Amino acid sequence: MLNNFLLVLGLINLYCEGIAQVYGLVYPTLSILSLSSPLRTSESKGIEMSLLFSSFALNSPKGQLTLPNRIVVAPMCQYSAVNGEAQDWHLMHWGNLLNSGAGLFIIEATGVTPEGRITPACLGLWDDRTEAALKDKLSRARQLAPKTPVFIQLAHAGRKASSATPWDGGQLLSKEQGGWETLAPSAIPQLKDERLPHELSKVELAELISAFVVAAQRAERVGVDGIELHGAHGYLLHQFLSPIANQRSDEYGGSYENRIRFLLELFTAVRQAYQGVLGIRISASDWIEGGWTPQETADFAARLKPLGCDFVHISSGGISPLQKIAIGPNYQVPFAKIVKDQSGLPTMTVGLITEPQQAEDILQHGDADLIALARAFLYKPRWAWEAAAALGGTVPSNERYWRCLPREAQAIFGDVKVGQR
Ligand SMILES: Cc1cc2nc3c(=O)[nH]c(=O)nc-3n(C[C@H](O)[C@H](O)[C@H](O)COP(=O)(O)O)c2cc1C
Repeated sequence: MLNNFLLVLGLINLYCEGIAQVYGLVYPTLSILSLSSPLRTSESKGIEMSLLFSSFALNSPKGQLTLPNRIVVAPMCQYSAVNGEAQDWHLMHWGNLLNSGAGLFIIEATGVTPEGRITPACLGLWDDRTEAALKDKLSRARQLAPKTPVFIQLAHAGRKASSATPWDGGQLLSKEQGGWETLAPSAIPQLKDERLPHELSKVELAELISAFVVAAQRAERVGVDGIELHGAHGYLLHQFLSPIANQRSDEYGGSYENRIRFLLELFTAVRQAYQGVLGIRISASDWIEGGWTPQETADFAARLKPLGCDFVHISSGGISPLQKIAIGPNYQVPFAKIVKDQSGLPTMTVGLITEPQQAEDILQHGDADLIALARAFLYKPRWAWEAAAALGGTVPSNERYWRCLPREAQAIFGDVKVGQR
């Protein structure tokens, strides 16, 4: 009874005080949009429910995985591993974001080989040590949080590997500085004055596919619920897709058919070895004349579907400093829409989505199925709680936090009760 009263109070408060919140992030933010979208009605409860807080099922050969809501914490490198091994920072960071109320948490770009790391401090999953460290920190973080699905992003940085951490400048490291020889589809550097990457031979391509397969098997043992292959942001898989980085003259370069070949082979091999949810992050545009395009992305996604792809995560850019990105709120949403419409795959959108109503509207318009946020979650790890208060949703929560709720958010943990004597 008391709870129902508080729920009603909360809802009244929500609509009276409005939901405007502007996040003080250092990148452009969107002022709050109006509550004009039609919200779905939950027949069972008779109250309005947002799409952002409705569940979403992802299929896989192993079975269906149901996400409790459509909010995804996007993968974010922490540059805090030692020899590829997860550290206490990861325990704290993952524990924090697994308590965020998001429906899915994606672990940062994780190198399938030591040379595949972006920086010497990047996370890895290439041997028993890195597997044990990841498993230890992840299982402990999970014990400290409500049950939340976790994916890992498996990656190889290609010619963008061997870099300094961002806070040390991010430049290509020499071998004396702790760097290493980088690998790429073609011997073309990321920046024109940099040393050339090594052009991968066909034997080395086969070894790389094996490295992804073994890492996927390790990820399964670590206990993740899904794998996202990193095919975006100018890293190795994207380098194969893009004519800017891939100028091979064999069957892995040149035409569109040839440029997608390595990824199709790699995806097929990983799919065969891994039965959980498997998808890929793709940069939908190089933002360069003559580069990889949104239409190619949509076609490529459609080609992945019969190979057993369970989702796509649509980002953009990263292949070259010559890119001219038209940046702003929702700037990558139109790419997600094209891919979703043409491939029929469950689609995540990401990029400058900062407001709850903004996220809700993207779903209401049918532009994407899932909304990923990165920087907003670093700035406000409880972003999903505030979104639930704004949109009338509920989030999974840890009972230790149940007493925290302000007046306008009384209902966000659902029907929870605390007592004392
Ligand atoms: C600190 C940081 C680390 C990131 N690391 C990764 C990563 O490991 N893999 C990846 O695909 N994208 C990475 N990104 C990009 C984000 O996942 C996301 O696509 C981008 O920040 C745009 O989303 P946002 O506007 O919500 O931040 C990173 C972004 C940030 C800010």
